[in-house]
This record gives sequence, structure tokens and C-alpha cells, in this order.
Amino acid sequence: MPDPGALNARASEASRLISRLSKEKKRILVVTHIDADGLSSGSIAFHALLRMGAIASVRAIPDLDMKAIDALRSDQFDFYLFTDLGSGMIDQLTAAFGVNFLIVDHHQLPSEHAGRPNVLNAWSFGYDGGSEVSSSTMAYILALSLDERNKDLSPSAIIGALGDRQDSGPNRSLTGLNRKALEDGVEKGLITVSKDFLFHGRETRPIHEAIAMTYTPYLTGLSGAKDACLAALSNTGFVLKEHGRWRNLAELSDGERQKLLEVLTSFVGTGGDGSMVISELIGEIYSLRYEDALTPMHDAREFATLLNACGRMDATDVGIAISLGDRDTALSEALKLIGEYRLKLNKALQILQTAGDRVATHGDVAVVIGDEFIEERMTGSISSLLASSDKYRDKMVLVRTRSGDTELKFSSRLGASFPKEVNLGLIMKQAAEFVGGVGGGHSMAAGAKIPMTKRDEFTRAVLQKVAE
Ligand code: C5P
Repeated sequence: MPDPGALNARASEASRLISRLSKEKKRILVVTHIDADGLSSGSIAFHALLRMGAIASVRAIPDLDMKAIDALRSDQFDFYLFTDLGSGMIDQLTAAFGVNFLIVDHHQLPSEHAGRPNVLNAWSFGYDGGSEVSSSTMAYILALSLDERNKDLSPSAIIGALGDRQDSGPNRSLTGLNRKALEDGVEKGLITVSKDFLFHGRETRPIHEAIAMTYTPYLTGLSGAKDACLAALSNTGFVLKEHGRWRNLAELSDGERQKLLEVLTSFVGTGGDGSMVISELIGEIYSLRYEDALTPMHDAREFATLLNACGRMDATDVGIAISLGDRDTALSEALKLIGEYRLKLNKALQILQTAGDRVATHGDVAVVIGDEFIEERMTGSISSLLASSDKYRDKMVLVRTRSGDTELKFSSRLGASFPKEVNLGLIMKQAAEFVGGVGGGHSMAAGAKIPMTKRDEFTRAVLQKVAE
């Protein structure tokens, strides 16, 4: 059962500690993860610290392993505030930093650490960190406890939640504590909620481009394929242009919307998984009222995709700058990056489609071997896309690639129609630790890094745990 009282008490305790550090002019480093929830949560914490006059810096890292902890320690900050990471490494962090760190997170954590005063984790208070609270929402709760003015950071809380695909309520809605953050944003006049198609560029792009730019859910034959989308719509007599101008999805009549659904259905099929994919294309839209309607930041989901692209393209500074409000150089840089990010994704997915030997299905698990063509930072995106496609919806997708010369990085995701109850976070953690690596995450999305020599042992351990 969720215990909001205990959560608020822990947040108040953490905020008293932060206030004291700020007054004492201690140097605080916010350390966060590179994905959209990481960049949003790190930015919320950093923004709140700057607002209270603290001496703070922020840094985003792809993984918190011993190498990363050693590097952080050698920088000798007075205090470390971890957002969106750290819950699986509490003993190691304590050994490195003593009591001089705070974790604000939503990943599952060992129960013996749930009561620690320097861990503000959704699971400790009965909330499902996988679906109803992002790290960004946790950071927002801490920020609110520091200062009510931080309600203006509520858009970043929901951007992080959407980046982690926590829009899993009816009609792709946000639920739980994410919904509370959403309600704060609505109340402050920062966010509006409506219902429509969820294609990226709904109001700003020609219809075929908006469909091609949408990767979640992944529409086989359409996602990333602008020409195929144009051909599919033209062939069914869609009026795509009016008076020489491309129309957009927001302009479609009810009849045209129905027809569009029929076209999409012809690609994904009408079976169980196909209908589920289609149902995920319509739902709640979260618009950020003060963002330029012609930019991807106007739609909170597109904002999350933009941040994710920055993180995955090794430009976390650009993502953080955008989260903090830079709409100048950082924005033009990010718009360039998102184009390159999509090209990279498309290239990897094309290789997967043409070279059949890269995907090996073992029972309920699809193992993707991307050693030579998937970059380490892209494994999470590729595994998410595949698991959202009609082809792999009933599978666990496990994507593998190289990490430097001696390690392998794995990303795993559960498709929404996976037939069994499994906890990926636990499976990846146990299998990685079994071979001397590090792993963890959520029940539907998790990652691991292991020594290269243990490749087959690790894969066998994962397959065995999923089959149990
Ligand atoms: O790396 P990837 O995107 O596949 O990770 C999926 C999820 O698992 C992320 O939320 C990430 O923070 C988490 N994770 C973790 N511990 C690890 C690796 C990944 O908690 N060692």
C-alpha cells in the first residue's frame, strides 16, 4: 500500500539535509542517467539547488559501476546527489562516500536498504517505480519539499515519466504520483491534457512524415519509412495536400481518422497484438503551453524523445541545457541530433531486418546480437523499439553489444503481450552478478554489463531464469 505520509517525511528529511549543505556552501554534484528520465530528474534537482543558492554541478553518466564511482570520488565534491541511479549500488556508494550522498530514484532496491534516510526511492513507500513514479517525479517531490515555487518544474516530471514509458494507464495516461505532478502542471496552467492520435509531429508535420517519425509503438513497414507511409496513404486516396500545403493529423475529419486506422491496421494486422498496437496510437496528449507549438518541446512525449536522443548521441549537456530552458543554441543542436539519432536507429533496424542471423529466438526470448553495428548507448532504444513492435510484443527482447574491449552491454525489454510474470530487473541483476558483472532495472526494462568472456554463461543464465 502506498504510504504518502512516509514518503513526504523522508522527502522533508532529505530537503533539510540539502538546505543545510546549501547554507554551508558545500559543493554538490548531481549525478544522473543519460536517458530522458535521467536528464529530466537531474535537471529538476540541479534547478532546485540553483534556485536555493546552492553551489551545484550536474553530470550525466551511462552506467553507475565501480569505474564510475572511482571517477566521481576522485573529483572530491562534498556531497553527491544521485538521480535515476544508485539503488543497486548502495553498499558501494556508502564505501566510497560515507554518508555524503543521497539517492533519488525509482528502480527496485534491496529491501534491507528501503529504510535508509539517504535513499528517497518510490518502492520504499509502496509505489510501483516501474509504472507510476519516474525518477523525475521523485526529484520533483524533493524539489517541492524544498520550495513550493518548484511546482513550475512539474513539466519535467512528466517528461521523465513519458521517457520511461510510464504512460501505461487507460488511453496511454499517466497514473500514480506522475499523475499528481501532471495535475500540478495543469493547475499552474503549464500543461494541457487532450486526447488524439499520438504520432510525433501531429500538428507540425505532413501526415506521412508524422507516421514515419513515430517509433513507439513501432509500426513494422511504416516507422522510419517516409516513402512507404506516403505510398500507403496515397494508394488509399487520402487527401494529403490542400491548396498546395501538406495537411497534418490534427486536421483530419472523423471519417479520415477511421480510414487512417484501417490503413494502419493493414500493416500491423487485426490479431491480438496488432489491435493492441493500434490502441496504443490514440490517447492522452500532454501539451506544454509555454513551448513554441512548432517545436518538439510542445508535446511532452516528443520532448522526452528529444532528450533521449541527446543522451543516446552522447550530448547530455545539450539535453540538460534544454531541460533547464535553453531555447537557443542547445535547441538547434538538439534538432540536428534527433535527425542523426533516427538515422542511426533506422540503420540498425534495417540490418536486423535483412540479416536474419542477428536475431535468435529461444522460447520466449529474442536475443539480438548487435556487437558490430549497435552502439552501446543505443541498446536501450533498440530493445524498446523491438519490444513495442507487433513482431516481438510477446517476447522478451535481449539486445547485446560490445562495451569497450573487455565487456558486453545488454539491454532487455518485455513486450506488452509477454505471456508470463517475470521481473527483468531481478533476472538481469542475478544473472550479471552470477558472472561477475552488474545488472538491474525495472520489471519491464533492465540492463547489464558483464565481462566479455562470460557471454554465453550470462545468456544461458538469463534464458534459464525466464523459463523457470
Ligand atoms: O541500459 P538500459 O536502457 O537497457 O536499462 C534499462 C533500465 O535498467 C534503465 O532504467 C536503467 O537505469 C536500469 N539499469 C539498472 N542497473 C543497471 C543497468 C540498467 O538499474 N546495471
